[in-house]
Amino acid sequence: MESPTRPSPDSPVSLHVNGCRREAAVAPGTALLYVLRNDLALNSPKYGCGLGECGACTVLIDGVAARSCVIPVKAAQGRRVTTLEGLGTRQRPGPVQQAFIDCQAAQCGYCLNGMIMTVEALLRRNPHPSDQELRNELQHNLCRCGTHVEIMQAARRAARLRAGAAQGRLP
Ligand code: FES
Ligand code: FES
Repeated sequence: MESPTRPSPDSPVSLHVNGCRREAAVAPGTALLYVLRNDLALNSPKYGCGLGECGACTVLIDGVAARSCVIPVKAAQGRRVTTLEGLGTRQRPGPVQQAFIDCQAAQCGYCLNGMIMTVEALLRRNPHPSDQELRNELQHNLCRCGTHVEIMQAARRAARLRAGAAQGRLP
């Protein structure tokens, strides 16, 4: 008779998330998304496909958009992880968050975490993207509600708000 497989013991991980050191104990190979949501109570990144294809789970790792459902948590150790919670607060949303609120760019809202984080990552490296560059960046983020027109409006407004904030003025 075969002996049952024993689960791998949890091991400690230390992460730098939204400017704070955070610790968790997880099984080796656990995806970053699960640690953020289940262990650190950061629920903005969403589980959509679990395959790296829809973008709902997007976070920034060292400022670059990354799909946390397919990244082992160990790979994020020693790097700066930013979630939607790290871009602003309900009282003081960041420019990209504010743009999506202003444009009411959501129906169910499930895709919005990924849309906002993807736009944030683009604007960090290219503050004045063309429409085509915005489209290229967002083309692999899926929105099943078909809110693409409003999302593009929000992305354009985000670029204006962010540029205005960088110059210390309102757009
Ligand atoms: S849940 Fe990660 S890409 Fe879909
Ligand atoms: S607003 Fe529903 S999936 Fe995009």
